[in-house]
Amino acid sequence: MPPIQQPLCQKARDRPVLGPPADERRILPRWRYNRAIVAIDLRSDTVTRPTAAMRAAMAAAPVGDDQYGEDPTVNALQDRVASLLGKEAAIFLPSGTMANQVALRTLTRPGDDVLVSRESHAVWHEMGGSAANAGVQFTEIGARGAFDAADVLAARKPRGHVIYPPTTLVEIENTHNRSGGIVVPQDACERVCAVAREHGLASFLDGARLWNAAVASGIGLADLAAPFDLVAVALSKGLGAPGGSLLAGSRATIDLAVRYRRMFGGAMRQAGIYAAAGVHALDHHMARLADDHANARRFAERLAKSPRIALDLATVQTNIVVFGLRDGAPDGAAVVAAARAQGVLLFAFGPRTVRAVTHLDVTRAQCESAAETIAGIVEAA
Ligand SMILES: Cc1ncc(COP(=O)(O)O)c(C=O)c1O
Repeated sequence: MPPIQQPLCQKARDRPVLGPPADERRILPRWRYNRAIVAIDLRSDTVTRPTAAMRAAMAAAPVGDDQYGEDPTVNALQDRVASLLGKEAAIFLPSGTMANQVALRTLTRPGDDVLVSRESHAVWHEMGGSAANAGVQFTEIGARGAFDAADVLAARKPRGHVIYPPTTLVEIENTHNRSGGIVVPQDACERVCAVAREHGLASFLDGARLWNAAVASGIGLADLAAPFDLVAVALSKGLGAPGGSLLAGSRATIDLAVRYRRMFGGAMRQAGIYAAAGVHALDHHMARLADDHANARRFAERLAKSPRIALDLATVQTNIVVFGLRDGAPDGAAVVAAARAQGVLLFAFGPRTVRAVTHLDVTRAQCESAAETIAGIVEAA
């Protein structure tokens, strides 16, 4: 098979081209939004484009019908991730959100209570899916993305009580997105899961960015996953694949997850095309996550020098930088709009909070330049 060449014109065309949001276009002269500025896109690590080598691996992947368990590339990916995470089995799913939804449905029953970290992805970014799909309620515990065994014991509602919703699951997010990509301390994970087990609660790790946690902490993936009954990992973030997440756990738990994946409409057929991108990403994009972490730190160190930016550098442990806007700085939405006009794309997490994420499609120089742009915007206000 000839190698797949990504045409240069396509690469350029595929890059985000800046302009004001659609509603502003109506009032701006045409030349203002027609300029093709190539963006430094720090909105998320999900914005990466598959490399030419990844596309070639996808095109060459042997495939079959995954619903019959016959896709060799999906099977290889599932086996590989199960083994990396030290679990018996794994299941491939289209997205991290679906992995979380299937995990909740697999480990709980409608009406149950789930203990989660404050500002977890499941609570903020899944459209209320957990209430709709698994029928569970959340109790947020701890602070700054982490919690410990004492928080579990204080918040747990026992089974069999006449009025309490039974707490049946504890969920940890590692790294923790809205807390700035912090790595949750492993000893806390171990204590939380031990106390959960003691009280008959299941444990789930939303490890969409567990790869980053492993690289940043130096703790192996299997050790990070070991305390948990079920673990989710995503291929479409720092690893740069165009999609796909996996859940890993015991054979019996994964068999149940297979059922719920189908019920939720997430079972695919020749999904090896996608899985091949994941295999390629595991082979080629894991070690370089350290570069993203170094770029995030460099970016954050520049921002932290600005008197109008609130940023605790201790939270910058991986590839996410969440910063606050102090008095005198414009609101998050205004900072995002002004940055966009200057070629830097960011995500407003709240009225006074902004997130930036480094990834394999932004260089060290671009991160430094983006930090200068943002500092200029908040200080000029
Ligand atoms: C911690 C965490 N979990 C789950 C997800 C969901 O992943 P997806 O966007 O693939 O649905 C994300 C997405 O950014 C995330 O940050």
